[in-house]
Amino acid sequence: MTRILGIETSCDETGIAIVENGRKILADIVASQTALHAQFGGVVPELASRQHIITIAELTARALEKCENKVDAVACTQGPGLMGSLLVGVNFGKAFAYARNLPFIPVHHIEGHLFAAFLEHPDNTTGTPQYPFLALVVSGGHTCLITCPEPHQYTILGTTRDDAVGECFDKVARLLGLPYPGGPAIQRAALNGDPHAFEFPRAMSKRNSLEFSYSGLKTAVLYTLRDLGNNAQENPSTLANLAASFQYAAIDILVEKTKLALTLTGFKRLVVAGGVAANQLLRSRLTNELDCPVHIPPLPLCMDNGAMIAAAAYSRLQHGFSGNLSATADSSLPLT
Ligand SMILES: Nc1ncnc2c1ncn2[C@@H]1O[C@H](COP(=O)(O)OP(=O)(O)OP(=O)(O)O)[C@@H](O)[C@H]1O
Ligand SMILES: [Mg+2]
Repeated sequence: MTRILGIETSCDETGIAIVENGRKILADIVASQTALHAQFGGVVPELASRQHIITIAELTARALEKCENKVDAVACTQGPGLMGSLLVGVNFGKAFAYARNLPFIPVHHIEGHLFAAFLEHPDNTTGTPQYPFLALVVSGGHTCLITCPEPHQYTILGTTRDDAVGECFDKVARLLGLPYPGGPAIQRAALNGDPHAFEFPRAMSKRNSLEFSYSGLKTAVLYTLRDLGNNAQENPSTLANLAASFQYAAIDILVEKTKLALTLTGFKRLVVAGGVAANQLLRSRLTNELDCPVHIPPLPLCMDNGAMIAAAAYSRLQHGFSGNLSATADSSLPLT
């Protein structure tokens, strides 16, 4: 039995978890800073790192109560992310590992998101993903399709040339006068809207391209708002139609590119990861339209959390990694 303390502080959530054998969550505590940053319409890096400092020790103490204070290894997001935020988690994790003479396992944040699908959860009805699989990573900072033929082997097939899809949700929400974070706000606003009221463009839709681009979609919403004039987004039905049409276009690109990637690679299994995987339209379209097993993490595990980091670290230990106390935070750490 191996219990890993997982630490995630790459952005604006302090995530601390204890996971047994890479699957069983004994503790999973996430202190969200959403309210702190909402007043600024986005994450303020300096405030984020200061808040991690305030919360990290107390959250860790609370998590350790759930496992009689016994852990076998410490895992932490090494990058990518906000440098100040990463430094808090990495230095706390290394100090903890050093003091207890435990292995310290640095984890790539996106690899962590992928391992959310491996965790046991009452809402995980699709079981543990088997290799090989195609991964669709959709978050605040990433939009990419990746092949994973074997554990910890990744090839990026296509990524975004500009904005990430989650970033686009956040920016469009701001245009529409909706609160941060934009993804859940747009999903709520879209509920009573017509997804075909406005035809927004699908960038990079030319055949056989697995690249993404989201800045044009954001600009199309801006120009539509200008054309409508008179603060059109303040009219509830216009707002609902704009939100639904934007959401439909943003998600449609993801679904179509994923279908194309499955066809081109011949992979027969999909794992979805990242905060935008919480989107209900994306979840239902992928589940209903793909002719292969689809693993999407349960809603609470889509967002940043420590459990996914611990799960990834367990797999790393299983595959021969023994820890590295000299690892340092890297804000632009590459996956491959
Ligand atoms: N229901 C939803 N629909 C669409 N987007 C959503 C939904 N829920 C959350 N999001 C988006 O998910 C993003 C946050 O996801 P996540 O926490 O994985 O990103 P991040 O950690 O900031 O970025 P990265 O993981 O790339 O470093 C935000 O952009 C948010 O708007
Ligand atoms: Mg994330």
